[in-house]
Amino acid sequence: MALAIKAEGLTKKFGSFTAVDSISFEIEEGKIVGFIGANGAGKSTTIKMLCGLMMPTSGLMHVAGFDAAAHPDKVRENIGYMSQKFSLYSDLTVKENIEFYGGVYGLSKSELKDRFSWVVEVADLKGRENLLTSDLPLGWRQRLALGCAVLHHPRIVFLDEPTSGVDPVVRDKFWQLIGQLSGEGATIIVTTHHLEEAEFCENIIMMHLGRIVVNGSPEGIRRKFSDLPLFEIETAQPLTLFNLLEREPWISDAATYGNNVHVYVETNQPLHALEEVLKKNSLSQYKITKALPTLEDIFVNQTRPSRSNSGD
Ligand SMILES: Nc1ncnc2c1ncn2[C@@H]1O[C@H](COP(=O)(O)OP(=O)(O)OP(=O)(O)O)[C@@H](O)[C@H]1O
Ligand SMILES: [Mg+2]
Repeated sequence: MALAIKAEGLTKKFGSFTAVDSISFEIEEGKIVGFIGANGAGKSTTIKMLCGLMMPTSGLMHVAGFDAAAHPDKVRENIGYMSQKFSLYSDLTVKENIEFYGGVYGLSKSELKDRFSWVVEVADLKGRENLLTSDLPLGWRQRLALGCAVLHHPRIVFLDEPTSGVDPVVRDKFWQLIGQLSGEGATIIVTTHHLEEAEFCENIIMMHLGRIVVNGSPEGIRRKFSDLPLFEIETAQPLTLFNLLEREPWISDAATYGNNVHVYVETNQPLHALEEVLKKNSLSQYKITKALPTLEDIFVNQTRPSRSNSGD
């Protein structure tokens, strides 16, 4: 498979602060890839470098067949970019925004006419062409922004937090639109805070403090981390148990999910140790099972401050 993007040792420093710390990865053409990470992980900085909008401090990056640091203009011709903020002009109407971006991308009159209808259709904006963009609900604005970012049929599309702040229904519509673009052959790179959105991606790259901590398909990642010492305890008193377990030094993390408590147990005989706590505190109705980690469990595990993360 041909590569849409290859980064090697990509680094961005702001003064003495390292926002992106020597990351390396490859993205195959046609894939939907999610960059996942908390605030400040370095997702937007990475995207801006790949789009040729920000020079890296060091490292290599090839995007759409070009060295993005040496030929940012060539890269920009081949990509669409929806920035985390301000990607539309809020004081222009829907129609004016589409026409503006059509001009930026050098579309001919007939191309613009075609794409105009397409954007209005996919963004569900029929009849709203003359509304001010600032008057649109966020979900519509985000789909309009995506439409504008792909007016010129780019080979690679970068979407920085496109679903941030929108409700689940709008989010699902947005992902349908991403699926449609992907079906047309585009490579899609999307950043998000939401781990549930990882399931819509063919590959995910989890970032933390400027580094890549996990990279792979959702299924491959779950398989790789299936041995995490994670247990699920079903009990009628989840909060009592949670409070008891939290005090144990060999429990490195605990969380409640309804009647279940999930715990990372870092000791030699985990089942025995857990049963001891339950018995000692007279909690008799329980069921302990080894749990398969969710992507969220894995993310939490790999970004815990006490760990030295292994990467890849
Ligand atoms: N121009 C800049 N000057 C100084 N520091 C910056 C600059 N841009 C980003 N940073 C810092 O670099 C780090 C990474 O920021 P970045 O915006 O890439 O994170 P992010 O993963 O996109 O976060 P968010 O989820 O909040 O969008 C943050 O600590 C941020 O404060
Ligand atoms: Mg960001």
